[in-house]
Amino acid sequence: MSLVASDKRRTIRDVRAAKGGAPIVCLTAHSAPMARILDAHVDLLLVGDSLGMAVYGFSSTLPVTLDMMIAHGAAVVRGSKRALVVIDLPFATYQESPEQAFRNAARVMVETGAQAVKLEGGTEMAPTIRFLTQRGIPVMAHVGLLPQSVNAQGGYRTQGRAAEAAAAIVADASAVAEAGAFSVVIEGTMESVARRISGELAIPTIGIGASVACDGQILVTDDLTGLFQDFTPRFVKRYADLAGILDAAVAAYAEDVRERRFPGPEHVV
Ligand code: KIV
Ligand code: NA
Repeated sequence: MSLVASDKRRTIRDVRAAKGGAPIVCLTAHSAPMARILDAHVDLLLVGDSLGMAVYGFSSTLPVTLDMMIAHGAAVVRGSKRALVVIDLPFATYQESPEQAFRNAARVMVETGAQAVKLEGGTEMAPTIRFLTQRGIPVMAHVGLLPQSVNAQGGYRTQGRAAEAAAAIVADASAVAEAGAFSVVIEGTMESVARRISGELAIPTIGIGASVACDGQILVTDDLTGLFQDFTPRFVKRYADLAGILDAAVAAYAEDVRERRFPGPEHVV
C-alpha cells in the first residue's frame, strides 16, 4: 500500500517504516503551486538545492543560499498537506562544524515548518548527522555523486566504478545510518553498490541514477516534466514536454496581442 493512503502529513516514522515495502515516491519541488500538484502523488517532497539550476540559472548548486532554501521551503510547506517535506542545506552552511550545521538547520526547520533537512556527505559528515539528530533535527543523508562536491569529484560522473570507490560509498552509507539519518539518497552509482547498501541498511534508500535496487526513487521535477532543458542526465525519464507546452501558449498569446485578438470583448468590463 502506498504511503499516501491517508490524508495526514507523512512523518519520519512513516518513511522509516516503509523500508522493504512499496517503493517510496519522491520528487523535488520549489513552489507552492507545484507542491500542491505533486502532493497528491508522492510520499516525500524534497526542496532540493538543484533549484540553483532549475530556478536561478546557476551552473551548479554552489551559489545557492540558506535564504533561498528557506523562501522556497516555506512555499512548498504551504502548498502541501500530505507529503513529508525535506529541505536541502546548501553548500557551506553545514560543512564547517556540527554547531554551524545545527544553527542553520534550526533556522530552516523553524522558518519553513519542514520535517527534516538533507545534507551531502558520508563518513566525514557522520558526527554532524549525529549532532543534529540527537538535538531534534531529522536528517536525510546523501551519498555517491555529491553535486556540492562537483569540483572535488571532477564533474558530475558516476561514482564507485572501482572496487575501492564502491566500498567507500558502502562505508559512507553505513556511517550516516549509524549516525542516525532516517533515510539516505544514493546518487549516481552502479546498481551493485545501491543493491548492497539497500540490503545492508535498516533505513530506506532513495535512488537517483542508482537503479531500481533502492527502497524509493527521486527525480528533479523540472527534468521529468521537460521544464528544464539545458541538459538532461541519462537517468532521467521524460514524462512531459512542459517547455514545449509553454512555448506554444506564449506564442499564441503574442500573436493574439499583435493581431489585436486579445483582449476580446469577453475580457473587458
Ligand atoms: O537537489 C536535489 O534536487 C537533490 C536530489 C535530486 C536528490 O538533491
Ligand atoms: Na541537492
